[in-house]
Amino acid sequence: MQIIKTIDELRSIVKGWKKEGLSVGLVPTMGYLHDGHRSLIVRAASENDRVVVSDFVNPTQFGVNEDLDSYPRDIDRDAAVCEAAGADLIFHPELEEMYFKDSCTFVDMDKLTKGLCGKTRPTHFRGVCTVVSKLFLIVAPDRAYFGQKDAQQLAVIRRMVRDLNFDIEIVGCPIVREEDGLAMSSRNTYLNKEERKAALILHESLMLGKEMMEQGERDAAKIQSAIVHKIETEPLARIDYVELVEAENLENVAVMEGRILTAIAVYIGKTRLIDNTIYQFSQPG
Ligand code: PAF
Repeated sequence: MQIIKTIDELRSIVKGWKKEGLSVGLVPTMGYLHDGHRSLIVRAASENDRVVVSDFVNPTQFGVNEDLDSYPRDIDRDAAVCEAAGADLIFHPELEEMYFKDSCTFVDMDKLTKGLCGKTRPTHFRGVCTVVSKLFLIVAPDRAYFGQKDAQQLAVIRRMVRDLNFDIEIVGCPIVREEDGLAMSSRNTYLNKEERKAALILHESLMLGKEMMEQGERDAAKIQSAIVHKIETEPLARIDYVELVEAENLENVAVMEGRILTAIAVYIGKTRLIDNTIYQFSQPG
């Protein structure tokens, strides 16, 4: 497996694959790969002839006071994970390769990006849409793989691909969890022992919401309030948001029907974690 650092070299390799009629899957990542990423790569390898993993900590999606500098990085470890999972190539560019010093073109979206994470991270999705568009144009994959853990990101990318006519199939993959339920995330490495335990409140509170839906509750405000109260029982937790929205448009709902995304963002100590569930109501209430 090769680690490629330049756009020209990557393009020439992919061109060669395409000439041979091979299909290409892309797994965009910011590195420090965990089992969640591994599951994306394995899925991509099972559905494509060749798999490219991009490994780039994208500065444009971090806000000014966020964790760009401390974001964990380990390309050697990432390379071992990629190779074992069946990737053919890692694209690991330097900052200067991805962005011109005077870059001034961005991909932005009016809807879907203002609520949920967009409320506290107003420039985040502009950075995500821009870098993902660049990766799509550089790699020109047939399919691209994203985790459902970043539910808003997945919905935003699906919409961007539709609106901008990218000829790429977006494949959303299930959340991968630790045995005790914590959703896997590169940011889990920030948690100390006590915080790691406290972080279980995210999954536990989502399970409470799901149970209420299974029992027939359709009042979104009641479920939201039950989840909030549950999270508030954990002293190390501070809520950023708890929202119940329609899963594709990310619009708030009062009475729930169809596919409902329950999305939460919670600070555990200084670490902001996100998690979500999707519940499908089978018929109108
Ligand atoms: O989900 C991520 O790791 C990033 O947002 C992505 C899609 C790789 C863009 O930098």
